[in-house]
Amino acid sequence: MNVFRTKSVEASIAETVEPEHQLRRTLTALDLTVFGVGVVIGAGIFTLTGRVAAQYAGPGVVFSFAIAAFCCALAALCYAEFASAVPVAGSAYTFSYATLGELVAWIIGWDLLLELLLGASVVAQGWSSYFVALLGELGATWPAGIGPGSDFNLAAFLMVALIGALVCYGIKESLRVNLVLVGLKLFVVLFVIVAGIGFIDKDNYSPFVPDAAGSVGAAGSWLHAPLVQTLFGIEPQVFGILGIVSAASVVFFAYIGFDVVATTAEEARNPQRDLPVGILGSLAICTVLYVAVALVITGMVPYDEINPDAALANAFLEHGKDGYATLISAGAVAGLTTVVMTLMIGAVRVVFAMSRDGLLPESLARVTARTGTPLRTSVGITVLVALVASLTPIGKLEEMVNIGTLSAFALVSLAVPVLRRTRPDLPRSFRVPLSPVLPVASALVCLYLMLNLSAETWLRFLVWMLVGFAIYFGYGYRNSRVGTTNEAAADAHLGQ
Ligand code: ALA
Repeated sequence: MNVFRTKSVEASIAETVEPEHQLRRTLTALDLTVFGVGVVIGAGIFTLTGRVAAQYAGPGVVFSFAIAAFCCALAALCYAEFASAVPVAGSAYTFSYATLGELVAWIIGWDLLLELLLGASVVAQGWSSYFVALLGELGATWPAGIGPGSDFNLAAFLMVALIGALVCYGIKESLRVNLVLVGLKLFVVLFVIVAGIGFIDKDNYSPFVPDAAGSVGAAGSWLHAPLVQTLFGIEPQVFGILGIVSAASVVFFAYIGFDVVATTAEEARNPQRDLPVGILGSLAICTVLYVAVALVITGMVPYDEINPDAALANAFLEHGKDGYATLISAGAVAGLTTVVMTLMIGAVRVVFAMSRDGLLPESLARVTARTGTPLRTSVGITVLVALVASLTPIGKLEEMVNIGTLSAFALVSLAVPVLRRTRPDLPRSFRVPLSPVLPVASALVCLYLMLNLSAETWLRFLVWMLVGFAIYFGYGYRNSRVGTTNEAAADAHLGQ
């Protein structure tokens, strides 16, 4: 058995021009940056900021955002180098197939699916909460029996179905709708910053980093404490320095998505130049906005009085600005829509790349001529996300999304120096500075944040990986295009 067989970069690039597997190249650097901002700014800033400030870090949440941004920036540099050297759909999955071998590629592809499928479901659930709240502010009611928190969340289900239909229709059309919604979302985030500055009370900033205290969640068993505490017996803590670090592993969710830009590599007109711009540009824009929003919100309301569910809207309600709150809820509804859409597009592209390689059934990689997109896969992903979003309880899946993403980041980072050594000749329009120090540091920072997630999350993650291994060894290994091509070549050689 050779689970470390690699697929050459040239083979990956050659497949992108096979007529039945060809995606349309229509996206520009601006499209990619908008795509990035569209997927990154979402449930994280609209809901997590408040929860984390109130429960883990106080105004120090600003540092948590900075730590998470630092981790993402290191990974983003690695992604940018890869995307410029291997401009093929599938992102981290394709990069690792060229470097670390098929099994690692499969693991990363499987992790990415976890990130994208569950990410879309989580944000769809967040969307349904804001949607119902907005209806309420406008004087209408959504039946509680089929809303967020019920056995079947029809609001989330319908939203995913609608977005799925758009994604099936075509990527250019999806991105056009995306552009309008991203504009609205950016406007609302800027509005929070500008309108909120006037309500900042400096007293709310002291103490900026509240003293460390016992954990709010410590009442739970070892299953709910961060793995690093369970392993090394560190007292669970909130606030103080440790609280800021734990908060960083949670607000990491707010940055997830910039890597999804790399999944659209085959649809970029000039991927070598535009992908690094799209990845690094969207991350930079989001970091500045997050830090500003976190400063404003913790300045407007004492941290222990921040509403953990809808902090942004509620901060204005507390200052008697009901109209502002409605506007912010409307912005959240529009904003979260684009996140769900982009994560779903990313999931379709990862399945597309994995099935084109034969690791999943090849029929999933067929592009429908009329739309120029893999229709069958798009429908399948839509149904899956709609079911998970409508049938699973809210607030249970976020950490799973984080662990899936962080593990993919760590592996991609390690793959950068490997590809430099194995293929020094490849043209790279973007190069990570200080390799291998920086890529290794990136992997270590990701690992540390992973250790700050709960033991329960780690167990669920292991189960997900076991299912992935079963599929790989039961199907993927035998049907892999790289494997079957190698075998055919060996047979031909023996027959001579
Ligand atoms: N970063 C995305 C969000 O915050 C997933 O919703």
